[in-house]
Amino acid sequence: MPAPALPAAIEEQLCLLVRERTGIRILDHQMETLRRTVADGLSRFGHTEAADYLAGLRAARASSPEHEHLIAGITVGESYFFRDQAQMAWLREQWLPQLIARRRAENTLSLRIWSAGSSDGQELYSLAMLLAEQLPDLERWNLHLLGTDINAEALARALRGRYSEWSLRATPEAARQRHFRQERDRAWSISAALRGHVHFAYLNLSEDSFPSMLSETNALDLILCRNVFIYFDPAIVAEVMRKFHACLVPGGHLLLGASDLIDSGTLDGFSLHNLDNAFTLQSHAPAPAKVEPAAVEPARADQRARPKPPPQAAPQVVSVSQPAPTATAAAATSYEDITRLLGREAWREALEAAASRQMRGDDSALLRQFRAKALANLGRTHEALEACDASLAREAGDKHSHFLRALILLELHRLPAAEESLRRTLFLDRYFVEAHYQLGLLQMRRGAHLGGLKSMKNALAIAERAQPDRRLHDAAGRDHERMAAILRHELRMYEPDKP
Ligand SMILES: C[S@@+](CC[C@H](N)C(=O)[O-])C[C@H]1O[C@@H](n2cnc3c(N)ncnc32)[C@H](O)[C@@H]1O
Repeated sequence: MPAPALPAAIEEQLCLLVRERTGIRILDHQMETLRRTVADGLSRFGHTEAADYLAGLRAARASSPEHEHLIAGITVGESYFFRDQAQMAWLREQWLPQLIARRRAENTLSLRIWSAGSSDGQELYSLAMLLAEQLPDLERWNLHLLGTDINAEALARALRGRYSEWSLRATPEAARQRHFRQERDRAWSISAALRGHVHFAYLNLSEDSFPSMLSETNALDLILCRNVFIYFDPAIVAEVMRKFHACLVPGGHLLLGASDLIDSGTLDGFSLHNLDNAFTLQSHAPAPAKVEPAAVEPARADQRARPKPPPQAAPQVVSVSQPAPTATAAAATSYEDITRLLGREAWREALEAAASRQMRGDDSALLRQFRAKALANLGRTHEALEACDASLAREAGDKHSHFLRALILLELHRLPAAEESLRRTLFLDRYFVEAHYQLGLLQMRRGAHLGGLKSMKNALAIAERAQPDRRLHDAAGRDHERMAAILRHELRMYEPDKP
């Protein structure tokens, strides 16, 4: 039965609100889903009129239950394990064996994968299953398998790891036997062992900053962002592609959905490879320049249906070409310059600039800290730790160096040492929001669920009391307000039944 129609002006205002707050555009064929979600929201939140519902949404924060219900309703994305057999075969037969062999030869047993727009987690768990298949010594590896989404309800389901038979329709029998257990109600639960290798977090691709060590979206080997671009308009897709490029290590790969349409202009810095049924398009352009915020201004409702430039059929695998050396670093040698380079994620240039200062005799703690940050973001984790320790040897009481050290140790999966560094950071500054937040995540990862929740609630309480628009030093451009919103989303993901 179709959902009850809404007044056209209300529908338009709702689309605009969603577009402004999340970057998601609602297309004509999705209007029925919007209407059904609104009908459900009206009764759930005690409204009788759609206008009251809209006013309630406007007054509520983007991280409120009302808003989250709306986003969860309109982003219900179908996903299933081992979706897209051609991509899965490429991962299983080519990409993983080659990368694993290379890492073994280099004696660096680590791998970093991000499922961006992970929905209920099937995509990320499929990768974890492929890894379990190929790594007999899985426990020796430092695996970073991250799933993020804007839909907190989907993230809660991903954490829970219970699926219907339909979600397993493409799952190989051996994987089903090894990683799932069937419950009395016939649902399939993912094994605790596999769940222990992945983690999920809230991240809005069109709003939040990445790459960032804080969201663990730096120095990645593989990003899967499949069937997500359907929600965005081309300007946002271009910006997300640029940021994905910065997240990947040179030679890293990006997998898009088979039907994701992107403009060829967004492929700068990537070279394309053919997969069975996909287009090949090769680009040797250097890393793309940063798109200014004005270029991704939200489209007005009346622009939503504007025809787009003709899209290229999406390639399914995109790899990062080596960036060309730049002249920026040589010119940038003051601390302000290096801070600016770090701020715009120009890690290589920041590193070169720090090296040129060091060659001229500068041996300060701050310079070492800069170096550590750039190295860590480039995935040169062991060197980063050395630089960070060298910085702390010169200035033992620097909370930012202790926090950076904690993030580096987290990447190295040295959890007890990371926890010690976080506690030291908090000893130096007990209002350090990001340290409380990271401590919470770490405690959860170590199985201390209640302690983890408490630390995250501490972070939220501090963020809510602080000046909303004050930028956090170590939080990838987030201010207190954004940090509080992310914490509210993530707390609901960990406690989905709490009102
Ligand atoms: C169709 S599902 C795709 C799931 C999975 N990637 C796959 O291909 O099977 C699309 C997912 O993108 C998420 N999404 C939409 N807009 C997003 C945004 N701005 N940031 C992060 N995730 C978003 C939705 O919540 C949904 O879970």
